[in-house]
Amino acid sequence: MMKHWQLTVDTEGIAWLSLDTAGASMNKLSAEVLAEFSECLNRFDQHAPAGLIIQSAKSSGFIAGADIEEFRQLDSAEKARELIARGWDLFNRLAAVPYPTLALIRGICLGGGLELSLACRYRIAVDDSGTRMGLPEVLLGIVPGWGGMLRLPQVIGPQAALNMMLTGKTLDARRARRAGLVDLAVAPRVMKDSARGLLRSGKPPRQLTGLARLMNHSIARPIIAAMARKQVAKKASPKHYPAPYAIIDIWQKANGNALANPTLLDAIVGSSTTQNLVRVFFLQERLKSLGKESAFKAQHVHVVGAGVMGGDIAAWCALRGYTVTLQDQSTEQIAPALARAAKLFGKRLRDPLKERAARDRLIPDPTGAGVRHADVVIEAIYENLEAKHALLKVLEPQLKPNAILATNTSSLRIEDLRTALRDPSRFIGIHFFNPVAMMPLVEVIEAPGAQAQAIADGMAFVRSIDKLPLPVKSAPGFLVNAVLAPYMLTAMRAVDTGHPPSTIDAAMRAFGMPMGPVELADTVGLDIAVAAGRTLSGGVAPPQCLMQIVEAGHLGKKTGRGFYEWTNGKIAGRPAASAIPAGLAESLITPLVERAEALVRDGVVMDADLADAGIIFGTGFAPFLGGPLNWKSNRSAA
Ligand code: NAI
Repeated sequence: MMKHWQLTVDTEGIAWLSLDTAGASMNKLSAEVLAEFSECLNRFDQHAPAGLIIQSAKSSGFIAGADIEEFRQLDSAEKARELIARGWDLFNRLAAVPYPTLALIRGICLGGGLELSLACRYRIAVDDSGTRMGLPEVLLGIVPGWGGMLRLPQVIGPQAALNMMLTGKTLDARRARRAGLVDLAVAPRVMKDSARGLLRSGKPPRQLTGLARLMNHSIARPIIAAMARKQVAKKASPKHYPAPYAIIDIWQKANGNALANPTLLDAIVGSSTTQNLVRVFFLQERLKSLGKESAFKAQHVHVVGAGVMGGDIAAWCALRGYTVTLQDQSTEQIAPALARAAKLFGKRLRDPLKERAARDRLIPDPTGAGVRHADVVIEAIYENLEAKHALLKVLEPQLKPNAILATNTSSLRIEDLRTALRDPSRFIGIHFFNPVAMMPLVEVIEAPGAQAQAIADGMAFVRSIDKLPLPVKSAPGFLVNAVLAPYMLTAMRAVDTGHPPSTIDAAMRAFGMPMGPVELADTVGLDIAVAAGRTLSGGVAPPQCLMQIVEAGHLGKKTGRGFYEWTNGKIAGRPAASAIPAGLAESLITPLVERAEALVRDGVVMDADLADAGIIFGTGFAPFLGGPLNWKSNRSAA
């Protein structure tokens, strides 16, 4: 009798071992789950089955990975080493059993789940939309220590393997088949027969051939490793992100055995980066769970305004499976949004039939006929109170009884917008960030008097399109823009006092931001920066540098000139930064931190963790620091 695994032996003597981690919605490889698996192997040592097929008994997927909660509780380097040894030894044992083994993978198969599969002789991926395979440990600041660094390079070649392990990118069933990660990608209805057939085929396990095999040879490893280090260095410094460098080292010098270099392992597990990235993982889980508090289910989304935001919101919802009607003043105004949507579908779906289906789901609707069928109506027309009032008055009488009516406004007050409505209680803000496809966060805005159900429904909708919903109370700039405003203002004041923009940006990139604040202003548009400054900076005079550039008619990236010169969407010949003065980054980030603290104090955002989560997922704030408030408290503790 096992708690987590179910074992059946069929008439051919094949053992089918199905994982159903008790008390969890997804399969995880906790210590208990691994211990039971080890007992199964003991039993098979006594009576070898004709073959072993490992599968999931859960519809939520194959195996999501190790139990990260156990990881969070590690309090010594020794325990961390024990945890690594647990999976490393067990999967080495699985790889050495004399009977054939096969992982039948349907749904997500990540981290330890993929490492278990890699230790099997064969792998079959079921080709349905949920199947994704990868080793995302690096995103948590750790390394795939249960055999991933040893076996993935042996199966798909070191370059492809390092690419997956260093980026955390996942493959769907077909791409996994093409990469050689699985032996077969099959339709769900034939998966069991295919598994049986392959298991009994007697075929030798997949082996690397040709160039890929040579690349994994110890002579070639230093060259591949040097190339990989160079690639990583473009994106992450070893000081901020030690794990990717450790992955390369462990593959190159220890054939993937993390236990061979305890000092390196201890440094990784004990680093603040790892703790903070694990924290960010749990913050993300918390945001996801906030979207589960309502059973609201939508089928049809109607978006009004096919501009930068509305067009991309509509495309994103269609990509995620909704029927979407997109309204603007004319068909001509909708056309560019449809063209952008087609590009997005092409990039994300990479399957002509699926792309066509997504295009069919996105329906141009110049007369607004979709409103009365929609479960969610999002207003994204230009930022003008009168225009929005007029629109809301037309929309309201046509709404279905429990439909969500939402605005994407950045700077108008929900309280002012809803005066046009007869029933303002279901009106909420659903505030997306630009570019919609790239930004994971969506703020769900509650004004006083809003129905709690409307907010919960809005959060559920946001989660259903695979974004992270953050509940925020109505206040100027909500959370994300409110904290960015004083940060960008301070950066431009620093330009006024003589710091070159390139030095300011370099200081913040070195701090860990994905983009410096001056480059960010150029990217957002300097007209928008001026307007945001007016509403969010409490009436203080705008920075001189900003006004001079705007008065000269330059608006940043979109006009080819701002604080920087721009060509083809890139800064032309980035000016060299002068030496970064000590303390510059701290002085620039402090206003952001202080504003975040004030917003928590005022209850605009529920608590410090949610503020950190919002700022990380809404601005890209250095994840390895765990959020601005976490950064401050760690600094004060140090
Ligand atoms: P935009 O100017 O690109 O697009 C607005 C669209 O609305 C235009 O295509 C216009 O023809 C259409 N429109 C205007 N009145 C209309 C009406 N009565 N009926 C139907 N269509 C109408 O504007 P953008 O940048 O997309 O902004 C839209 C909203 O999103 C604004 O409320 C803005 O504050 C908000 N927002 C903008 C962000 C950005 O980065 N641009 C980020 C987050 C929110």
